[in-house]
Amino acid sequence: MRGESGAPEVSSPPRRSGPREPGRQDWSSWPHYQAAASGFRGYWYPVAFSSRITGRPTQVTLLGEKIMLVRDGGTVFALKDRCPHRGVPLSEGKRQFPGTVSCAYHGWTFGLADGELKAAITDGPASPICGKVRQPTYPAAERLGMVWVYVGEGEDAPPIDEQLPEELVDNPAVVGARIQRRTGNWRFACENGYDEGHAKYLHRTALWRVFKSMPVWNETRIERRGRWIYRVQEKQYWDADFPGLGTWNSQAWYKQRPPKDVTNIGNTGSHREVDPVIAAQEFPGFASVSMPGVLRIVYPTFIHYEFYVPIDAEHHLYVGVMANFSRGIRTLPFYVKYLGFVRWLFHGQFSAQDKWMVEITDAPPEKLYRPDDSLLKWRKLAEDTCEGRAARPKDGG
Ligand code: FES
Ligand code: FE
Repeated sequence: MRGESGAPEVSSPPRRSGPREPGRQDWSSWPHYQAAASGFRGYWYPVAFSSRITGRPTQVTLLGEKIMLVRDGGTVFALKDRCPHRGVPLSEGKRQFPGTVSCAYHGWTFGLADGELKAAITDGPASPICGKVRQPTYPAAERLGMVWVYVGEGEDAPPIDEQLPEELVDNPAVVGARIQRRTGNWRFACENGYDEGHAKYLHRTALWRVFKSMPVWNETRIERRGRWIYRVQEKQYWDADFPGLGTWNSQAWYKQRPPKDVTNIGNTGSHREVDPVIAAQEFPGFASVSMPGVLRIVYPTFIHYEFYVPIDAEHHLYVGVMANFSRGIRTLPFYVKYLGFVRWLFHGQFSAQDKWMVEITDAPPEKLYRPDDSLLKWRKLAEDTCEGRAARPKDGG
């Protein structure tokens, strides 16, 4: 990762014409990514725990669109949450007949599966408007104990399993999850998650890391495999001498380093054996990211995922999922560990440090440094994958 002169080499996007302060970058080199403030269409997004979606309609916002979710006959349905009559949210309504939802205002009643106006209760059974109005619907599915909604452009939704991390589709897993609405653009959250530099410094004070050492810096390269890009740790430096300043590290006598042979797997400080399902994936690096903003951090006995779900340009859902591939009675320790402390230390205090940074990030402009190669490669992945998929402006209809 060093240039021929030995000087640090920073990956830069191609130059665009127009004045720019030397060394500073805006996002115009990734026009589709830049336009995707409210997210990319054409993907499935997790929006709520399955247990929260009942027969009572609920509103969620996804890519700036208000969506009503309701469960009927065990199946979750998603409809645009604006009654076409006078614009009242359908989520204020109720189910009056099986397979339908009725608007709270004048009782327009829509089929949940197809959005067709089946009845206008206050205009009687022969209301001539019936069958002439169709409310937009969204594909919905349930995976990992959550409801997922597809936001697209009217094309058939691809199977959700094509978008989930492959190992979660192919192997049974137990999961612990946290869903939290957070302030800040979803891209800042994703960039923070995949950012190679921050964990070693920002998270050095996290209780989750209290008994685990962090290197000062790494030599890293980014490798693409399939739809994922991986951070491959080539070398870790546990101490560093900064000329004229002194040495710096985040070591302490009570902190453990990972075994030398697990450089490219997350450091939990103790495990030397890697779960066979995780080992079989042969991940080239412990941190990877894929579209539309899915982070995967691989530890020896579990995998942690973060889904950054665009609510609108200023807010996102943080969906943290921890998965363990044990079977039967061997899942018990995972539940005890997750509910006992992982939920509070990792999905809680550790992740709150990321939340803090995402809230106060203010870019572009920005001046990037060598570890930001990870961030640049993520933007390139998004740009190359997503032409024309940025969220469209609200139609207000
Ligand atoms: Fe929905 Fe009138 S606004 S029925
Ligand atoms: Fe972090």
